[in-house]
Amino acid sequence: MSENETKGNFLIYGANGYTGELVTRHAVERGMKPILAGRNAIAVETLAKKHHLEYRVFSLDEMDRLDAALQEVDMVLHCAGPFSLTSRPMVEACLRNKKHYTDITGEVTVFEACAALDGKAQEAGVMLMPGVGFDVVPSDCLAVHLKNRLSTATRLTLAFYGGGKISHGTQATILMNIGRGGAVRRDGKITRVPAAWKTQEIDFGEITKKGVTIPWGDVATAYRSTEIPNIEVFTVIPPNNLRLLKASRYLGWLLATKPLQDYLQKQIPPGGPSDAERAKGKMYLWGEASDRNGNHVESRMITPDGYDVTANAALNIVQKILDGNVKSGYQTPAKAYGPDLILELEGVSREDVV
Ligand SMILES: NC(=O)c1ccc[n+]([C@@H]2O[C@H](COP(=O)([O-])OP(=O)(O)OC[C@H]3O[C@@H](n4cnc5c(N)ncnc54)[C@H](OP(=O)(O)O)[C@@H]3O)[C@@H](O)[C@H]2O)c1
Repeated sequence: MSENETKGNFLIYGANGYTGELVTRHAVERGMKPILAGRNAIAVETLAKKHHLEYRVFSLDEMDRLDAALQEVDMVLHCAGPFSLTSRPMVEACLRNKKHYTDITGEVTVFEACAALDGKAQEAGVMLMPGVGFDVVPSDCLAVHLKNRLSTATRLTLAFYGGGKISHGTQATILMNIGRGGAVRRDGKITRVPAAWKTQEIDFGEITKKGVTIPWGDVATAYRSTEIPNIEVFTVIPPNNLRLLKASRYLGWLLATKPLQDYLQKQIPPGGPSDAERAKGKMYLWGEASDRNGNHVESRMITPDGYDVTANAALNIVQKILDGNVKSGYQTPAKAYGPDLILELEGVSREDVV
């Protein structure tokens, strides 16, 4: 039996993607030996050989191969997105094989689909934790930190800003969802709103920027982590893209048509920010919680580049799971591991403003 067939290991599916490859590299640097997997035989084999790791090749509809691969590990770190297209078969396979599921999604529909499987996951003794990357670990930790500072909070506003380059898969996921408008949490319910519904000046500390509402994962997860019933998430979008986003209110139907999606998806360049670009990257987060009596608290956070946060936050969580630090059922990162989870990452700082 080889080392990878013993207990205490994990599968990275979509390992040959931009983020999967980065996660693989960080994992190897930590001395981990994940089994790599994906549907592209040449790309997965090349990456595995480079890092002296085992690999399995299968697509997500090859149930027997998927089950066989999961039987060799304790959990999966799913890195193949857009997750609204890829999460379901992997989640179902994890429930079937009683293995823990993590992914790096930021899609509200995926979080909600996993949350709906809470009962099944508890029965199976399996943890379902989507969103172990930049979306949503730092913002989820900030949300719980704010809730701990103001337990009576009924309103939560979160914002983040980076400004760096984004990867192929992130662009593909944004493009796929662009025609679907925005979303906020209102009175506990996810509520559809127009794209770029609200704008607000956000004081990130070192810089102030105009933020715009987006249907970021926290609209789903922060409610599960904090039970605060009204949640809005803002980010900063360059003026040209903001104009396009606003136009999507009217052209959304067109952008969602298959021929146009197929055409636009093919225009997205592969890859993502280089090591040097990421090293210079920085992410700003800000959050505010308020209650009906006019009390409010504000906190900020600064982290390294979002892709490095994704790789490191995901691997910290993987390590906890492999160490047996697991809660079965659907979980959010900060609910399971507390608001200081993000402070375990090098280069992260948090300050309370008010
Ligand atoms: N949480 C976060 O903050 C965070 C950070 C980074 C990325 N992400 C998300 O992670 C996803 C990946 O991003 P990326 O830039 O790494 O993407 P990428 O470079 O395009 O790689 C995507 C990977 O997923 C695989 N894949 C895509 N669709 C698949 C399908 N239907 N079945 C099986 N495999 C499939 C691809 O396989 P092939 O090579 O065979 O096509 C490839 O291995 C995106 O959804 C992105 O939004 C989230």
